[in-house]
Amino acid sequence: MIIDVITLFPQMFQGFLMESIIHRAQKAKLVRINLHNLRDYTLNKHRKVDDRPYGGGPGMVLSPEPIFRAVEHLEKNKSRSHKILLTPQGKRFTQTKAKKLSQEKRLILLCGHYEGFDERVRQGFDWDEISIGDYVLTGGELPAMVVLDAIIRLRPGVLGNPTSLKDESFSIKGKQLDYPQYTRPPKFRELTVPDVLLSGHHQAISKWRQKQSRKRTRKQ
Ligand code: ADE
Repeated sequence: MIIDVITLFPQMFQGFLMESIIHRAQKAKLVRINLHNLRDYTLNKHRKVDDRPYGGGPGMVLSPEPIFRAVEHLEKNKSRSHKILLTPQGKRFTQTKAKKLSQEKRLILLCGHYEGFDERVRQGFDWDEISIGDYVLTGGELPAMVVLDAIIRLRPGVLGNPTSLKDESFSIKGKQLDYPQYTRPPKFRELTVPDVLLSGHHQAISKWRQKQSRKRTRKQ
């Protein structure tokens, strides 16, 4: 899978891409992530990417030209990419959506900033507009990282143990939440591990976990 990210702040991705599972996935060539600075696609001397909105009003609007040039450059002589626009107006991102996107060959993610994009950016390409939640962030970079993380971990080979995908919250039918987990020691300060988990009785453990999952799901 190849993912191109168009952003004004490629540096924001450094920590995310250079650590842990996402770093390992790239080293193992399970995913390739290319960062592209939107300023590199400007044609003006000052590398300006935005301008004042027609009709007045606060803030700045991202100009169409560098965005068109960036996307056209990335798609030149290549198979078409699934193109994602990160905006608070988009459709809410879900685990189901992450699964669908994890099956794509090529993705382009465009991170917005300021008061948004010139509307012609929406008209120029077939975008899948995604929001990560009903709140407004200063830009699309954090949302892009959220989407990348959720997608990459679903790619075959990225997580060591594939059964860890099978049971997790939001994957299993009916969207039940995870059951509580414990590890050693059996007693930490005054807090103990439920006896059933120490019993070695697999059927009883499975029943207990199902019950706990249901309880957590009801509470939410
Ligand atoms: N850009 C700013 N806020 C956002 C959000 N909630 N989701 C996606 N992109 C955004």
